Amino acid sequence: MNETIYPDRARIDALEKVLGRTRFAADIPLPRITHAMTVPSRIVRGRLAAIDIGAARAVDGVLAVLTWRDFTNAQSAGYLMGGGFGFQSHQPMLSDRLVHRGEPIALVVAETLEIAIEAAALVDARYEEEPFAALLEDERAEILAPQAGHAMGDAQAMLASAAFRVDAEYLSPAQYQNPMEMIATVAEWRDGTLTIHEGTQNSSAVKFGVAAALGLDSARVRVKSAYLGGGFGQKNSLQGQTVLAARAAILLGRPVKLVMPRAQLYHTASFRPASRHRIQLGADADGRIVAASYEADMQNSRADTFRASFSEITARLYSIPNYSSTARLVRTDVQSPGYMRAPFEHPAAFAFESAVDELAYATGRDPLAFRLNNDAETDPVTGDPFSSRFLAECLRTGADRFGWSERNPAPGSMRADDGTMIGWGVAVGAYKAAMAPAIARLRVRADGTTLLSVSGHEMGQGIRTAIFAALTEGLEIDPARIEIVIGDPDAAPQHLTAGSWGTASSVPVVRRAVETMQARFDALRDGRSVHGSIHQMLALWRRPYIEVETRLQAPGQPDAVFDRLQRGLPAAGGPEYKPFVSFSYIAHFVEVRVEPTTRRIRVLRVVSIVDCGRVVSPRTAESQVRGGVVWGIGAALRETAEIDPRFGGVLNNDLAEYVLPVNADIGAIEVGFIDQPDPMLNEAGVKGLGEVAMVGVAAAIGNAIFHATGRRLRQLPMRIEHLI
Ligand code: MOS
Repeated sequence: MNETIYPDRARIDALEKVLGRTRFAADIPLPRITHAMTVPSRIVRGRLAAIDIGAARAVDGVLAVLTWRDFTNAQSAGYLMGGGFGFQSHQPMLSDRLVHRGEPIALVVAETLEIAIEAAALVDARYEEEPFAALLEDERAEILAPQAGHAMGDAQAMLASAAFRVDAEYLSPAQYQNPMEMIATVAEWRDGTLTIHEGTQNSSAVKFGVAAALGLDSARVRVKSAYLGGGFGQKNSLQGQTVLAARAAILLGRPVKLVMPRAQLYHTASFRPASRHRIQLGADADGRIVAASYEADMQNSRADTFRASFSEITARLYSIPNYSSTARLVRTDVQSPGYMRAPFEHPAAFAFESAVDELAYATGRDPLAFRLNNDAETDPVTGDPFSSRFLAECLRTGADRFGWSERNPAPGSMRADDGTMIGWGVAVGAYKAAMAPAIARLRVRADGTTLLSVSGHEMGQGIRTAIFAALTEGLEIDPARIEIVIGDPDAAPQHLTAGSWGTASSVPVVRRAVETMQARFDALRDGRSVHGSIHQMLALWRRPYIEVETRLQAPGQPDAVFDRLQRGLPAAGGPEYKPFVSFSYIAHFVEVRVEPTTRRIRVLRVVSIVDCGRVVSPRTAESQVRGGVVWGIGAALRETAEIDPRFGGVLNNDLAEYVLPVNADIGAIEVGFIDQPDPMLNEAGVKGLGEVAMVGVAAAIGNAIFHATGRRLRQLPMRIEHLI
């Protein structure tokens, strides 16, 4: 059991970042660096009939213009995540076939960025176009047979006989994450070794993926991903442009830098696909939810099958004995959609937690009491216990802090003096508590320095700060001279950092390294009583350093997962660990204000209480939750892609028109943690946090809008025009 209560501490890399000293991939200075720019396809689907690079090639300062003919020896890495998930397998520029708008048809490399941009605009192409489907609801879209989902009890029979019923459809649009750091690759080929600097959540998969795509020995491919300016899932696989930049660097013998323009990323990078959710719920006369049916459709590309798992959390939020779910993938002509913070859980919680609210009202019950009354004690899917579950505590604590008892339950009943409609809403969220295998190498030196190498990627979420906390709690070392190397497969094997398993994977293995180091030190001390730090003792004993290596995997995983880790393959475990099931939980309470004339919706305040197990880094944890809530507000009220069905393009493909919440849109956000360790999941008691933070926010806002206005909005984003 982890008895440590971790103190609040500043982000260890805060000062560097504030000073602008942190080097992201595109900031790496290399001598004789060249600059590349991609030329995007202007059609959605068809063939590149001809491409004329003459004018581009003739621009002074242009070094090369690559087309698909320069990649005839290359192949798709096939699995860009590094292992059989069937998503993002399309590598552009391998042939004259075009499968989605905006995919690169040429790569210009020049002495300066300006020259590359100028020349890219001069590449002339002729296309043979084919019909396409750009939208989920397009008649040319291909609907695949439903995936099997959950099947507990007999949902349809129980729905038919339920005392109260809800049957509604909820819509979530395609959304595009916009990390501050755009996707960028710096590739360098020197002495037969390829070095790639790229902000990626999956440096080992990039290493093995690029090697496979270009037919290189993976031992000669190095990948460095020390810092990302935001990841969110967009950077968790091998990107199409990485292979292009790498090939250019090899051909030219000079380093190549490629920063994808944001407008192109809307058409090449992973995004949250559009989805439709039909939810049927039934309750008995006592207000117990007796049955649920969840049927979903989710947009996909033609090439891949990015599987939907909307029901993973919704089957577990409540004790619902009869539950069925299915999901259909809908093939459209887009780049493959992929992971984007709480990829399934955010739209699923919007739909399901809106429906639960509707059901609570249908039964005439308070939505908070209704939720508490339906809490689950064991996992309804497997029948196994939860490793820990403090969802009811999240709800009770949140209700207290929010002042829920002052709520008048009647919709439209609460008004400010000026007539502004006030709405109070609640919703819950969950996210799997996963763990990935990890290896930590810890070296404490006599010279006062410490080196720790471990699996992990710093996206800004604060993983370095959490690792630092685990390292310095319980080891007498100089905290000012610690080097933490992550995102570097040369230092330690790197697993994909995603799925909210970062802290739960790196912190427990680092704690283990700390304990092993302490034991080694104690053995060396051999009963002598000594004073001073480990460094001082090592100096006294004339030992240059002590090094330990520890490893840890998810509960129940065989040692063979370390082979997968070594090869850059996904190897995370959870949420079902025999014989228990692990999730993180959150409860959100929201106050909205709706102006009576304009119907403008504003979020005045949010209280979010989280059960993520032990909190290792309080400051960055709170920051994660705030960020997730802000994203939830954006997803509820702002974010959507405006897609032109005639041309298949995203019209608002920039930060000016892809509307995100700004400071003026965000009211007070109060964050609280239950901070109870989960000793079954790992010795550190850590569950996950990054994604659960935004799960349920949109539903809480929708529920608050209903309470304010009596209008139930079932489509994201919820806008003024839906209330008029
Ligand atoms: Mo996250 S969407 O699993 O990087």
